[in-house]
Amino acid sequence: MIQHWGAPIHGDLASVQTAIRPSIANSSWDEPQFPGIMRESSRGFLGRPTLSGHRNGKAWSTKFEVTDFHHQKNHVAVTFRDLHAELEVVITFDLDIHGVLFQRATVKNLGNTDYCLNEFIHWLPLPKEATQTLDFAGRWSNERNPQRKEIATGTWVRESREGRSGHNFSIADIALTTQTSFQSGSAWATSIAWSGNSHYLVEKLFDGSQSIGAGELLLPGELILASGQTYEAPALVSVFSAQGLDGVSAAYHSYLRARDVHPKKERPLTLNTWEALYFDHNEEKIKALVDVAAEVGIERIVLDDGWFHSRRNDRSGLGDWVIDPAVWPNGLSPIIKYINDKGIEFGLWFEGEMVNPDSDLYRAHPEWILYEADRVPPLWRHQLVLDIGHEGAFNHVLEQTSAVLAAHNIGYIKWDHNRVLIDAGHLGAAGVHRQTQAIYRLFAELKKRHPGLEIESCASGGARIDLGVIDYVDRFWTSDNNDALERQTIQRWTAQVIAPELLGTHIGPTHGHQTGRTLELSMRATTALFGHAGIEWNITEATPEERKHLATWAQYYKNNRGLLHSGKMVRVDYPEAHAYLHGVRAHDASRAIFAYVQLTPTVSIHPSPLKFPGLDQTANYVIKAVFPAGKPRFMLITPPEWMAGITMSGSALSSIGVTAPILAPANAFLIEISKA
Ligand code: DGJ
Repeated sequence: MIQHWGAPIHGDLASVQTAIRPSIANSSWDEPQFPGIMRESSRGFLGRPTLSGHRNGKAWSTKFEVTDFHHQKNHVAVTFRDLHAELEVVITFDLDIHGVLFQRATVKNLGNTDYCLNEFIHWLPLPKEATQTLDFAGRWSNERNPQRKEIATGTWVRESREGRSGHNFSIADIALTTQTSFQSGSAWATSIAWSGNSHYLVEKLFDGSQSIGAGELLLPGELILASGQTYEAPALVSVFSAQGLDGVSAAYHSYLRARDVHPKKERPLTLNTWEALYFDHNEEKIKALVDVAAEVGIERIVLDDGWFHSRRNDRSGLGDWVIDPAVWPNGLSPIIKYINDKGIEFGLWFEGEMVNPDSDLYRAHPEWILYEADRVPPLWRHQLVLDIGHEGAFNHVLEQTSAVLAAHNIGYIKWDHNRVLIDAGHLGAAGVHRQTQAIYRLFAELKKRHPGLEIESCASGGARIDLGVIDYVDRFWTSDNNDALERQTIQRWTAQVIAPELLGTHIGPTHGHQTGRTLELSMRATTALFGHAGIEWNITEATPEERKHLATWAQYYKNNRGLLHSGKMVRVDYPEAHAYLHGVRAHDASRAIFAYVQLTPTVSIHPSPLKFPGLDQTANYVIKAVFPAGKPRFMLITPPEWMAGITMSGSALSSIGVTAPILAPANAFLIEISKA
């Protein structure tokens, strides 16, 4: 039984069992029941069990006994066996030094007949002071909108049934007290490490107990364990924070940064060709873009969609991963050389899990799609999903992509996934689980064959951002929405779990392609700075002044990415809704870079002052405004004096703060704070 999830407890715990032993209520069990981690009906549990399944209608209810228990430092392993149901479950808990808890589990079929596993959910108990939950909802171009609501009796379920985590996937499900804010209060956060179908649940039973859980959402009959076979459940990655939502992010970011696979190289300033040229590219046009990119200081150029066989628009070509001589008569080598000669890396776009019906691959192998019965699933962006759980299809994608990589100097690929999986059958059975494992295997194999290869996970923007795929990829495309005003919110919440250096953040065009909104370059550049920065705009059309600003901003990014990509993300609890004040503070509090972002008009003339938490209270700091990409649009006659630079103590900066300037809506600027 998990008795406590929260702040560390110390000392003698021997009496805890007695302390929390429940009373016997009216109309209740004669003796208290202890359903334990497996939450079984056979042990008096009336909520959702941890495991459910059956053997052709039998073994439908379990009563597991603990057969082994190991506890060593921050590691616990428990083995359960049910000899009647003929199952063995091993659950492990590992708490890392950053306070991140990993729950892992395997389910093994000990019997001689097939066992159909319907569901395995990792659960954690929630104390009663957790009265609210926060999860995230979204759609294409508007990912990760926060939803904060009261926990009521019943079950709140967030499902992903797209076969990818999805735009509407909740990157975390977080229980909170009513008072929890970015900077303070308790938060109990969970995040499921899986890129296929999944569900999060918050359950409050009529006895008042409440818990939070998540697991893979298995389709009917999707997971049949043959005799001796084992299912490995996706891990649940959880954090308790007594320091608010920023405390949760700090723990997740520290864990991600400590992984062996976390990118070690400085994140190169990237130019992606998509919103610059879309499908309309050729050697000439790319060269023109490269010339300006080199001038402003770009370090990596990614050639997006449209370079391969018959891909002149989104109606054809997916599946045929060979260079199209119609557009690239000399192949890609000359343009790669042109780019490399300017000291810039080259990256290339793929969408390997997809196929257009109008492709050589589909004409040769129509049976290689995910489908059920004799139905072809409805098209989405004119494409179908390739069943890479099928060895033939898997090898086709692996060999064709590998051949392109082997023949060129390509150290980076952007891997897209532009449609949902529905009716996704593999040889007559549900195929999402297999497909998800296959893409992990494919990424691992590509990296093995091409040492040093970096992969960007993209799925129509941010529809495959999760802690499952993260160990196979090096960057996420956060959203197809490059409108900086909207990006502010998308990035703010994606970074709740994902460290900013893993999130692609690009300066989009002057007139946003997704919203039609016109934004100052300073707003776009300030927004793009807080991530793995880049540009996605046809900068051959930028004015000389804009190019100059792009160059100074590029240099600013290079000078400061060390701090931006290692420090603690800070989202200030700014008391008014018209603005965000957020930034990154060095772990030793010697420096910080903040952005003040005015989202909407202010209500009162003078907005609330800007206060900066977490600084060394007794030290003196120089605070000043900086404008590496030009000034924002102010709405005032004289700006606050401090913007030119003043010295203040850490405690004055956190308790008194500095006057907020009045900006036009959708404007932002940077604030530097450094120890004097
Ligand atoms: C969707 C992605 O999110 C875009 O960035 C771009 O790569 C297009 N697909 C290309 O088709």
